[in-house]
Formats: sequence, C-alpha cells, structure tokens
Amino acid sequence: MDLSHGHTGSRRSWAEPYKIKMVEHLRMTTHEERVRAMAEAGFNTFLLPSSEVYIDLLTDSGTSAMSDRQWAGIMLGDEAYAGSRNYFHLEDAVHSHYGYKHLIPTHQGRGAEHLLSQICIKSGDVVPGNMYFTTTKHHQELAGGTFRDVIIDEAHDPQSTFPFKGNVCLQKLSRLIEEVGAERIPYLSLETNVNMAGGQPCSLENIRETCALCHEHGIAVFLDATRAVENAYFIKHRESGYEDKTISEILLEVCSYTDGCTMSAKKDSLVNIGGFLALNDDHLAEEARNLVVVYEGLHTYGGMAGRDMEAMAIGIGESVQYDHIHARIGQVEYLGNRLIEAGVPIVQPIGGHGIFLDAARFLPDIPREQFPAQALSAALYVESGVRAMERGAVSVGRDHETGENIYPKLELVRLTIPRRVYTQAHMDVVVESIVELHREPERVVGLEMTYEPKHLRFFQARFAPVVGAEVLRRSGQSEPAACG
Ligand code: F0G
Repeated sequence: MDLSHGHTGSRRSWAEPYKIKMVEHLRMTTHEERVRAMAEAGFNTFLLPSSEVYIDLLTDSGTSAMSDRQWAGIMLGDEAYAGSRNYFHLEDAVHSHYGYKHLIPTHQGRGAEHLLSQICIKSGDVVPGNMYFTTTKHHQELAGGTFRDVIIDEAHDPQSTFPFKGNVCLQKLSRLIEEVGAERIPYLSLETNVNMAGGQPCSLENIRETCALCHEHGIAVFLDATRAVENAYFIKHRESGYEDKTISEILLEVCSYTDGCTMSAKKDSLVNIGGFLALNDDHLAEEARNLVVVYEGLHTYGGMAGRDMEAMAIGIGESVQYDHIHARIGQVEYLGNRLIEAGVPIVQPIGGHGIFLDAARFLPDIPREQFPAQALSAALYVESGVRAMERGAVSVGRDHETGENIYPKLELVRLTIPRRVYTQAHMDVVVESIVELHREPERVVGLEMTYEPKHLRFFQARFAPVVGAEVLRRSGQSEPAACG
C-alpha cells in the first residue's frame, strides 16, 4: 500500500508506526478441528472459543493492542470509589478532543445508548438515524421509540462508490419531520463512519446541514462517535477544504455541531473496555448522572475501573495522531485492494474499520432465506481459521409488526481489523483464504436457523446446514463432514 504521507508524493513502502514489545502466540488448527468447532458453535462465529481461531476478524471492538504508555497508565489507576483522578484525566481528554461539556462514563457504548434512550425517548417517539446499529436501535425500541432510516440510498448499494455513503438524506429527513411532527422526534442519531454500511463516512458539509435542519425544528442531534476519528481521516482526504486540517481539528468540528455523543471507546480510543455519554445540556446531564448510578456505577466511574479510564484518556490522545490513523486505515485499504484485484465482490469504497464481503454477489446461488452471509462466514472459518461475522438478515432481525424476517439490501460478511494487532502478512493470509473460497463457492452451503434468541439474535443464534452432510466438505474429498 502507499502510505507515504500523501502530500510529499513519495511512494516508498510503508511500515507500521510502532515496533512490537510483547507477542501473543497464535494457535494453528486442523481442518477437522475447525469442522468440529464450527458444528459445536451452531455455525455462528460468535459462539466459537477464541482458542480455536487463527486470525480473529470478528470485531474491532475491544480488540486493539494498547501502547506501552497505556499500559503504564494502567499502573496509575486510582481505584477510589468516588472522584478517581483518572476520571478527571478522562474528562480533560474528552473535553479537549470531542469538545462536549459534560462527561458521563459508562462501561461501554451500549451503556451510554441505554442512558440516552431512557432520558430522551418516550413511548411513540420516532428516532431517525443514518442506518441502524444493532444495540443503538434496540435501546431506542426498549425505551418505546421506533427507528427510521434516513441515510442516503447509495449506502444501501454495495457497488456505489460515492465517497460519503454515511450521509443523511435531507429529503428523507424533511419528509419524516413533516409526516410525524418534530414534537415526536426527540433527537436524530448521527453515526460517524457508519458501521452497518461498511464503515462509510459522513461529510462535514452533510453533518453541518443535517444538524442545521434538526435544530431549526428543535430536534437535538446526538453523535454516535464510536468511529468519529476514522470519519475525520476520510474528511481530511476526501472533502475539499480539509486537507490541511489536523485530525483533531476535524474531530472537534464534527462534534461542535451536535448536542452530545454516545461513545464505544473500544474502537477509536484503543482500549479493551469503556465508553461514555457526553452532553452539552446541563439539565440532560443531570438526568444522565442520576440514571448512571442505577445501571453503571457512580458518575465518576460508570462501570470502569480507574485504570481503564486512564488507559482510555491516553488512548484518545493516541487515536488522533496522524501516523496512527493513517496506518490503521491504510491496513484496511491494503486488504480491500488486494481482494478487489482478485475480483472478490466487496463493499466500495473501502471503509474504515474493515472489509465487507458482498455475500449476495459472492454466493448468487444461495437464496436469502438460507442466510448466505452467515454461511460464508462459517465456511471461511472452516477453510482457514479466519473468524469473520455476518452483517445481513440475521443481524437485522424480524419486522416487529409482521414477525417476518427482514432481508436488507446489504447481505455482508464483515472482516473487521483490530487496531495495531495484525501485520501485513496476516492480511495476505486472509486474502488467500477468501480468494480460494471465491473460486470454489460450492464449498459454502446455505443454513437454516435452529435457535433464535429474543434480543440481538446474531450474537447467540444457532444454525444447521440445509443440505446436511454435503456442507463444509473440502471439495474433492469424500469423507463426510462431521457436522450437520
Ligand atoms: N455504536 C456502534 C457504531 C458500534 O459499532 C458499536 C459496537 C456500538 C455502538 C456499541 O458499543 O459494543 O461498546 O456496547 N460495535 C461492535 C461491533 C459490537 O462489533 O461492531 P459497545
């Protein structure tokens, strides 16, 4: 990949902007072991023990490698129940880099989503957003609200190369305000680098206009800032007028138009656990502080140890360093470009946190009712030990009114890249595994769901192959697969 610092025009090879101080051994497994493990996991990669996984691309959440400075910060944990000094460091970091007035720490992102939904949404409300995220939507619904997607149409088209596929469609938003009335819309949930669309960014112009439209109608805007630093990187490189701004300046500008944010620090902020709710409004902040003690912990730790808050404060500072974010997105681009060169259908443009295989095009012969993305992620694991995850019909769930499965336009397998964890050689192995499967798609067999949990079903659902013994057998081999 070309990771030269863009502006200089030099095209030297790139290298990670860090060296390795500690290693964690990876275990290789045999094909037979993986066939057994996959069957025991009910063809759901979430149910695999990580000891059976070779390269783990399940998620970029909580899987980052911390720096030596962050580990040093861990030793400086002030584990006082109240008023830990690490809380104040975190407050400073959030204030300087995100700009919001009040910080309410939470154990992770969904803790913040829970608080925000409970304090803002009442039964019958409608919450628009630029595509749903699973936990965000679920908390909105538990609070009595209904989610409405107002993302631009390009986001639902895996082949559209529009550079800001995370943008809000202002026409859809205006129509919604007209249809339900601004008084039934407590806030708009604005996700940066939209996860379910493939890690696709919003432009600053669109963020500005969306916030202006909402504020004109008295509707608040809360950012899902989980991957806002990655979004800032794309703004710098794709939006004119921002090429000379720093990542920090862009991030602050993004946040400045909004009324607060929910944050899963397990992504951008380079920590293994943590999150926060940040708010500008004094009254809302007071309500959130009242509620956080019920669900998370005291308002100066919110479910985190002092050491976790210190690591997060340091991680926030590291996350906005250009070298870091450049190499992080560069690694994702390297993987994506190699797959594109090999003719593998992926969501384009390449997003920030991972590569999304277009399972519908990868496996045109597997009907949507047989969950092609789930089937592909199961087969990829069996063939190579690479763990990916489904982001399609299983993740979306059922229509609340009809009880029927929803089949979204995007039926994807997500290969999510943990930050600072794997090398380019690991990426090469991933490419080879996928290309092999792409050449022989008959190795993948459709699935049916045999167990469906009530909430966020993709985490714990179980499946079985629709055609029994033929599944997951190495093509050309005659032994029956030990699954099904
Ligand atoms: N918002 C976004 C955009 C997310 O991607 C996530 C988590 C959350 C909120 C919830 O945060 O996990 O800290 O409670 N995404 C993970 C993923 C689970 O794998 O994409 P959390």
